[in-house]
Amino acid sequence: MESFRFCFLMLTIAILASPALSDLVLSKVDRRIYLTSHIVRISSTMKVENAGSEKESKVLLAFPEQQAKNMAYLIATPHEGKGKGKNPVVALPVEAANPKDMPAALTLYSVSLPKGLAEGDSFTFDVLAVFTHALRPIPEQITQADIQLVLYQDSAHYLSPYAVKVQSLSVKLPDSRIESYTKLENTKIHGSEIKYGPYENIPSFSYSPIAVHFESNLPFAVAHELVREIEISHWGNVQVTEHYKLIHGGAQSKGEFSRLDFQARPNVRGASAFRYLVANLPPRAHSVYYRDEIGNISTSHLRGDSKKTELLIEPRYPMFGGWRTAFTIGYGLPLQDFLFESDGKRFLNITFSSPMVELVIDALIVKVVLPEGSSDISVAAPFPVEQWQETKISHLDIDGRPVVVLKKTNVVPEHNQFFQVFFFLNFQSEYAHCF
Ligand SMILES: *[C@@H]1O[C@H](CO)[C@@H](O)[C@H](O)[C@H]1NC(C)=O
Ligand SMILES: *[C@@H]1O[C@H](CO)[C@@H](O)[C@H](O)[C@H]1NC(C)=O
Repeated sequence: MESFRFCFLMLTIAILASPALSDLVLSKVDRRIYLTSHIVRISSTMKVENAGSEKESKVLLAFPEQQAKNMAYLIATPHEGKGKGKNPVVALPVEAANPKDMPAALTLYSVSLPKGLAEGDSFTFDVLAVFTHALRPIPEQITQADIQLVLYQDSAHYLSPYAVKVQSLSVKLPDSRIESYTKLENTKIHGSEIKYGPYENIPSFSYSPIAVHFESNLPFAVAHELVREIEISHWGNVQVTEHYKLIHGGAQSKGEFSRLDFQARPNVRGASAFRYLVANLPPRAHSVYYRDEIGNISTSHLRGDSKKTELLIEPRYPMFGGWRTAFTIGYGLPLQDFLFESDGKRFLNITFSSPMVELVIDALIVKVVLPEGSSDISVAAPFPVEQWQETKISHLDIDGRPVVVLKKTNVVPEHNQFFQVFFFLNFQSEYAHCF
């Protein structure tokens, strides 16, 4: 592995000393980096304190550009502490920020605190940042018999425009097979967890590069594109059809694939492949099917309870790095679970994204097909989406049905939140019997 050593030094961030932004200091920062999936999650708890006399109500979060370009989701919430959390957590507003005199290699966000901090006041909050395509396979190509090794780079010090009094970092790996990791002062390893710190009195903008090279044979399931069609059907049903273009986004597979080898010893001759995907469909999903270009694939792996319906999707062949597959899943849902009425309008309230577990979606298109004659259409989504309208004409329609199209790139499971489509429909409509 000697030849890969140079890679560990590639991340360089030139950070110049900047003038103090404000009198805020971080009295405590605890970061946890989860590398237990191909989706990287960084969860931080930070206590911010106002050491100046001016009131402060905003806290800046800084990310190196290299990391920011892979960021899919960012949320800040007041820290509830252990045993609490009975009240629903309301996220703190976060917006992109562009303050003056900041190093160009940083992307900044500003978190608004519930109330201004006066001199000496402090506030503790949690931040979750979710990243896609942040694990780099090294080597980039492997054979069927190889395990997959990936590289993750970050900083042992929390990169911040503020000084940090006390901080610690924990990096959680899928298992304890670690090829190499950066050893600094105060680095400890416990099984599959690497700990850095605690570090005290670290100045603002401190960046101390670390690299972890480790085994990860988890499914690197990436949908280059997913088109979901949600149709309020003529039959008192919500019909969902999802068209996936899927790729194994891990190390490229090289050499010939031997099915015989794979079947004989799948864990040795195909450790980096994935054989199935799991979709958690809503409860009461029915008429579930799964097909690819060749035809229907048996959906015998379907099980459900009152909370969800679990569908196990097994492609025709195991997926190795770089391999692609295209397939469609479809299911029906009871209309009364998803269609409601409010202020004389109807609205559909349904989840936005794929039911597939730990899937990254590079481009997601959601099409909501409304009953013919629907008017006054509006959408409420919990995050920004591109939006336009189309018309769908099928043999049962006269004028066609309005279709609301929503598009979002870089989608992670955290985006699988409810959204609403409001519309007005005259009771004279042929759909009246459905409601
Ligand atoms: C595939 O399954 C769907 C849904 O069960 C069914 O409507 C369709 O006829 C099937 N197609 C084939 C080729 O069996
Ligand atoms: C949508 O449904 C979810 C789950 O049932 C519910 O928590 C949420 O309040 C609903 N949203 C609206 C606007 O009705």
